[in-house]
Amino acid sequence: MLIVYDSLTGLGKKFAESLGYPARSVDADAAGEKCVLVTRNVGLGKIPPSTADFLERNKESVVGVVVNGNKKFGPFYCKAADKINKLYGISVIRKISGSGTKEDIDFVKNYIKNPPF
Ligand SMILES: Cc1cc2nc3c(=O)[nH]c(=O)nc-3n(C[C@H](O)[C@H](O)[C@H](O)COP(=O)(O)O)c2cc1C
Repeated sequence: MLIVYDSLTGLGKKFAESLGYPARSVDADAAGEKCVLVTRNVGLGKIPPSTADFLERNKESVVGVVVNGNKKFGPFYCKAADKINKLYGISVIRKISGSGTKEDIDFVKNYIKNPPF
């Protein structure tokens, strides 16, 4: 399993790297390898363009998405996750705040080890 992250300020990168799998930026392609995507929100729950570009090229490889956000955005908290699910049919594994908690890390690791796919 590969972890692909789209991270501007480093929080998502930190979470991606804490999962214990090879992690690389969304700028590279997944090259057909199954991956978990860790991404963020821009402009009130929108999908970052860099994530959309990656998904257009690699959506078949993505087994699920983790979105990191900030609860101060209220109803738009991690909304990009729901949009990715709707647009690309990709499962939402977890919505996390910032770089996530130990529970978030354990949850996502468990999803990868015992996938419902
Ligand atoms: C312009 C802008 C809009 C954002 N909109 C949302 C949002 O709608 N919902 C949300 O949960 N977080 C939102 N965020 C927070 C980002 O998801 C947060 O900055 C991100 O978790 C940072 O991740 P990174 O350190 O991996 O880049 C927004 C941040 C920016 C800069």
